[in-house]
Amino acid sequence: MLLSHRVVHAPMTRCRCEMNIPTDVMKDYYSKRATRDGLIITESILISPNAGGFSNVPGLWTDKQIHSWQQITKAIHDKGGFVFGQLWHAGRASSVLPSGQTLLSSCEEPLQGTCKWTDKPFGTPKIALHHDMDGVASDYKAAAINALQAGFDGVELQFAYAQLPDQFLQDNINKQTKTIQERILFPLRIVDAVCGAISSRKCAVRLSPFSTSEGAADSDPITHSEYVCTQLEKRMLAYVHLVEGRASRQQAGGSCLRPMPPSTLLPFRKVLHRTPLLGAGSYSPEKAQAYIVDGLIDAAALGKLLLPTRIWPIEFCTIILLGHGILKHLFQVAPKDIRICLPTKPNLSLFTCGHSFTW
Ligand SMILES: Cc1cc2nc3c(=O)[nH]c(=O)nc-3n(C[C@H](O)[C@H](O)[C@H](O)COP(=O)(O)O)c2cc1C
Repeated sequence: MLLSHRVVHAPMTRCRCEMNIPTDVMKDYYSKRATRDGLIITESILISPNAGGFSNVPGLWTDKQIHSWQQITKAIHDKGGFVFGQLWHAGRASSVLPSGQTLLSSCEEPLQGTCKWTDKPFGTPKIALHHDMDGVASDYKAAAINALQAGFDGVELQFAYAQLPDQFLQDNINKQTKTIQERILFPLRIVDAVCGAISSRKCAVRLSPFSTSEGAADSDPITHSEYVCTQLEKRMLAYVHLVEGRASRQQAGGSCLRPMPPSTLLPFRKVLHRTPLLGAGSYSPEKAQAYIVDGLIDAAALGKLLLPTRIWPIEFCTIILLGHGILKHLFQVAPKDIRICLPTKPNLSLFTCGHSFTW
């Protein structure tokens, strides 16, 4: 996969499905955001009916779902773009399962409060046993195979925001063991199952080391996520996608804000030598540009900025200058070879969808 620019569409759940089947509204949405040789990462896609979630998010386990995704991936490819589907198992971050099965997690404590998407209370999980993990790993594998059948260029595994794999990584949720070396075993099993099925070059992983959403509050996010990145680096993935930390409230119950350095991703960049690193998290165009130029990240995934598309992509790309002469094999060569320098002249003809869109 050869990208012509480094502005990536971040995964964003929009709840526009009917009974877990993608709709034409979604085709329209993604098609309008596709750029020539640019990458879109889709919203989270449930890997199976037992993966939690709710009925207006997409799935990837039936022929009908695969067929509907085919229309969307084709629309993106027709505009010359690439698309990775984000594969999702929510674990305990769900209400009751429609299949009547019990939610799986690394613990038995339900999340407090109600799910913001359904307004229903979170369900009570059970600890996933060995055979449950086997089932989940093979659901990921099947979904990854279905994703390729549906025309995706690859899959991004949703290990961020305290969804099921992250419920195993975060030490305040997974209290079964004290070491990251053990907590990572199940998430790595998922990665290896998917890589074995579709190749590591079509598989990516998203992590949010510092997130405190859905009950996450790891005691040592830098050390633990560094270890996770070290393990992912060995696997030659398409990319690793990391969400920046933000200033957050002190966990000890204080109300003061805990300041964060300008970028929180430096420790992970140091371990991800060969693996392209996508950064995300409240990037302004200027910040994304600075981080890319400094080599801190290889591409910037933008979320909220790309929703209304009124600045997408022309004005943005005049700032993130990815023009002529610096087109590189983002997903094929070592990151040190793809560091960019600013070209003197932006080549706007590279960006073909500068008209304005609706949400
Ligand atoms: C409406 C909305 C839905 C989102 N859904 C997802 C999702 O499905 N999967 C995911 O990993 N992140 C999701 N995110 C997080 C974004 O991918 C991104 O990391 C976050 O919004 C921070 O980047 P931004 O400040 O550029 O928006 C969502 C964010 C928004 C605003």
